[in-house]
Amino acid sequence: MEGSDEDEPAGASSQSDQHMTTTSRHHFGNARDSGDAFSITIIESMKEDYGLFVWPCSVVLAEYVWQQRSRFLGASVVELGAGTSLPGLVAAKLGSDVTLTDNAVRLEVLDNMRRVCDLNELKCEVLGLTWGMWDAAVFNLKPKIILGADVLYDTNAFDDLFATVTFLLQNTLGSVFITTYHNRSGHHLIEFLMVKWGLKCVKLLDGFSFMPSDKASGLSGSIQLAEIVLNCEPVK
Ligand SMILES: C[S@@+](CC[C@H](N)C(=O)[O-])C[C@H]1O[C@@H](n2cnc3c(N)ncnc32)[C@H](O)[C@@H]1O
Repeated sequence: MEGSDEDEPAGASSQSDQHMTTTSRHHFGNARDSGDAFSITIIESMKEDYGLFVWPCSVVLAEYVWQQRSRFLGASVVELGAGTSLPGLVAAKLGSDVTLTDNAVRLEVLDNMRRVCDLNELKCEVLGLTWGMWDAAVFNLKPKIILGADVLYDTNAFDDLFATVTFLLQNTLGSVFITTYHNRSGHHLIEFLMVKWGLKCVKLLDGFSFMPSDKASGLSGSIQLAEIVLNCEPVK
């Protein structure tokens, strides 16, 4: 499988407006060999705000979604801390029913998600979802697959994130949380919290082990991908 990520500066009007935005285009599959290849265009802030920048973990998770595409056809997917939302948009392109979420108070991030959906002609729900908070809308989410790229970066927020993930996993029998994170994020703490919240890791990959070389060359650091499920499925 081949693909590439390239920054494509938006036109002068886009760069000079008050939002200081730029766009990047991300390719999946090889257009020469397969009819199912596509690209996703992302609007980013040139100010590199946390939720308005495509972080490397997002590029790795999006590639994984593409490579695991048979799992995503018709699946209900929720992306947590989605920011610019590349993995969720790839899932939507592959036929998932996607809800993109980010911190409920980050209205500029949520607005950017709506713009990016429109730009790529994808219909996704956009929802403010702050980890560890239980707004009514959270109770209606029944994702088969939960995605989270670079959401394990602030150890103070780990417990809230795991609380939300555990709640969502309990809401749908057989669901899975697929996350990518930098090793610096504290794997021991993640292991401790999985035990605390009754979760287990069923797959742990070096993020670079499945990346095409042209995409991997643009990334740095040590990125892990984990698939996490409930340790014991509740009886429903
Ligand atoms: C490092 S960025 C990653 C963004 C995107 N997933 C990516 O990889 O490009 C972390 C994201 O988590 C979101 N976030 C941080 N704390 C949060 C919280 N308590 N509840 C929900 N989202 C949160 C931020 O707004 C931001 O979009």
